[in-house]
Amino acid sequence: MTNSTPAILGGTPLAQPGLPFARPLLPPLDELLPEYRSIFSNGMVTTGPHAERFAEAVAEALSVPFAIPVSSCTSGLLLAFQAMGIPRGAEVLIPSFTFMASGLAPVWNQCRPRFIDVDIETMNVDPETVEREITPETRAIVAVHQFGNPAPVEELEAIASRRGVSLLFDSAHGLGSLYRGKPLGGGGRAEVFSLTPTKLVIAAEGGVVATRDAKLAEHVRLGRNYGNPGDYDCLFPGLNARMSELHAVLGLHSLHRLEDAAAVRNRMASRMRDRLAPLPGVSFQKIDPRDRSSYKDFCIILDPAEFGLDAHQLGEALRAEGIQTRVYYSPVLHQMTAFQSFVNDSDLERLPNSIALERRALSLPMYSNMTGSEADLICAAIERIHRNAATIAARLS
Ligand SMILES: Cc1ncc(COP(=O)(O)O)c(C=O)c1O
Repeated sequence: MTNSTPAILGGTPLAQPGLPFARPLLPPLDELLPEYRSIFSNGMVTTGPHAERFAEAVAEALSVPFAIPVSSCTSGLLLAFQAMGIPRGAEVLIPSFTFMASGLAPVWNQCRPRFIDVDIETMNVDPETVEREITPETRAIVAVHQFGNPAPVEELEAIASRRGVSLLFDSAHGLGSLYRGKPLGGGGRAEVFSLTPTKLVIAAEGGVVATRDAKLAEHVRLGRNYGNPGDYDCLFPGLNARMSELHAVLGLHSLHRLEDAAAVRNRMASRMRDRLAPLPGVSFQKIDPRDRSSYKDFCIILDPAEFGLDAHQLGEALRAEGIQTRVYYSPVLHQMTAFQSFVNDSDLERLPNSIALERRALSLPMYSNMTGSEADLICAAIERIHRNAATIAARLS
């Protein structure tokens, strides 16, 4: 076997040790210890001053009046959606090409998702599609900044206000993104961020609901505490979705590293894009030059006819090289078991890009501390797999 033989065909894996899909950049433990010591000595492990301080720091970083820390982006989405007061049974537009939690928010609130397509290049919902898909029964839109690529916030807000529907942003990937030079967070009625280990700001588990709406903020604040205003007379069905003090300390120290993380990810994305662009059948998520993606994920789009393999096959070949990838998203929402009662045959014709991306989009490893040589190794592996694409395709079929 020569060095040009891909590992999936018996060559030596290029990545030794392997490259994981995500490598969380955590603050050094020593930096956190003084705060953890004080939390352990006073016993106040949840709902305390650290969560408040984290909330203030996020609000300041995003330039929004209200930022409420919660236990996850999913719980934040459920509560923010509930706060919008959308009537039971109402229709909600949601992209099919997204993570399951975007669709869970309306369903948990007894609303009906109507899946819409995304733009195949930006991977976000585009304003024309939203305008066309709104029906007299639509009461809300859930838009996503996919992989950190800012959605067209202003155009979507204009449509929502003209058509009298609420707009919620699933901004799970949005910390580190800039929309027209400014951080996301103030769009729609609320934007909800995630703080899990694949994100740029990490609290182990956690989320933040950012909003300019004082009433919505108050609802989320109560809702994360069962709906209990403090006198045990529960006002509405809330959750336990509080952020613990331990998570908040980690989140705050991680937040201080956000700009560096976004800069590294943008540099590495641009390095991989430059090197992979000449390969036939490889393209990239289109980011508006006025914006910055957080690159929560760096995703390539394959044309299987030109590249010789689809995303699933390239993922398999990279795994043999020791490089982990994810086919985000497969299945897409309208294919998931949980959402089948909201799908009908005509929906499938309306969602060609979501279906195409399910076979074509592959997220490569991306870290907030990725090195140039790691990025180069990923590209070298893709190049040698491409040179042998026909043999690999035959092997995998
Ligand atoms: C688009 C999107 N929305 C929501 C979530 C849910 O976030 P969490 O795991 O913090 O609940 C994720 C998870 O990564 C996501 O990718």
